[in-house]
Amino acid sequence: MDPTLSDLDVVAQPRQQADLPTHQLPNQYVLMEKVSEGGMGSIYKAQNRFTGAEFAIKLLRPEFANDERAAQRFAFEAKSAMSLRHPNICRVHDFGLTEAKVPYLVMDWVNGISLGSKILRDRRLPIKEAIRLYQQTASALAHAHQSKLVHRDLKPENLMLSRDAEGRSEVQLVDFGIAKSLDAEDGLQAAALTKTGLIVGTPVYMSPEQARAEQVDGRTDIYSLACVIFFALTGRPPFLGPTVVDTITKHLIEAPPDFNPSLKVPSDLQKIIYKSLEKDPCQRYNTMEEVLADLMKLTAGVSLNHKPLSRDRQRVRSRLTLLVWFTLGFITMYAISIGLQTLMGDGGGDSGLTKNNKAAPTNHPSTKRS
Ligand SMILES: Nc1ncnc2c1ncn2[C@@H]1O[C@H](COP(=O)(O)OP(=O)(O)O)[C@@H](O)[C@H]1O
Ligand SMILES: [Mg+2]
Repeated sequence: MDPTLSDLDVVAQPRQQADLPTHQLPNQYVLMEKVSEGGMGSIYKAQNRFTGAEFAIKLLRPEFANDERAAQRFAFEAKSAMSLRHPNICRVHDFGLTEAKVPYLVMDWVNGISLGSKILRDRRLPIKEAIRLYQQTASALAHAHQSKLVHRDLKPENLMLSRDAEGRSEVQLVDFGIAKSLDAEDGLQAAALTKTGLIVGTPVYMSPEQARAEQVDGRTDIYSLACVIFFALTGRPPFLGPTVVDTITKHLIEAPPDFNPSLKVPSDLQKIIYKSLEKDPCQRYNTMEEVLADLMKLTAGVSLNHKPLSRDRQRVRSRLTLLVWFTLGFITMYAISIGLQTLMGDGGGDSGLTKNNKAAPTNHPSTKRS
């Protein structure tokens, strides 16, 4: 007789932990521990009871269980992520409803930490590692964009870092929770799901057009990814104010800061980042493939040939303005000094005239007569 599942060895037993949800997941999954609690969902480490394979399970928080829109958003996240296959995008395997009708999704367990935690621990990434991470994430996003999905929530907490066979860090992009479909029909549906303001991006990494709630496309991810890489290289995001409004204002009007020269960030890498951080999406790269192509050139040692960036143009403009003011100032000072000299010279003439005038009476006929 064939063995039934109940005859198989059970390799994973549930732990008795107070904060593990009581709603029933399919029998094969055992929740091991809670790893994160976000705005809409909680993430648990789980194991297949029979094979021991590890998964991450995201469950919609029970308070949203009766929120139709939140449930649809959650399903949209699952559908979006399941449509993607890329070595740097965390695989989502399954989506379903628990017995208590709570939506959940099952994804690969990433054995590692988020970029956010890593920077908190190590302060910043070595340049080589940051470039590698930049390439991998750009490649993952290029794939998502080809599938007409814009992530819209790139931040260090959504880049999980694991290790490859050679021990090098490898990105796994997670959280398509507020992804936007550029597909006309899906897009309309997704727009309706985010209309309530229930879901927002993260201001620190948000593009200017996203902050203005304008239409966005893949170029918003190009901007946000550059903010994340700036953060990875320096330990500080490029735009950070004391309040959300200050931070957003900086995204809208402030030029990105310089890299500290002591970090020795290669100038071509800086160019890629600054071009991606252009305020106007039309001044950025058009596609993530273009970013990737420049990153490839960078690693191959081929120098980049960019048009001047707006921050350079601004600098040239302000230097020119300074030069014009300096020249005008110089000319004015020169003119004044010439004027003064003339005046003083003329003043001498005047006294001469006065002398002449004083002398005049001696030549006056009446004087002669007397
Ligand atoms: N597949 C995974 N493997 C391991 N940890 C994960 C995984 N997915 C998410 N996490 C952890 O959970 C956190 C939140 O996950 P995320 O999908 O971003 O949910 P949220 O919508 O709450 O932001 C991540 O920052 C990461 O620390
Ligand atoms: Mg997240």
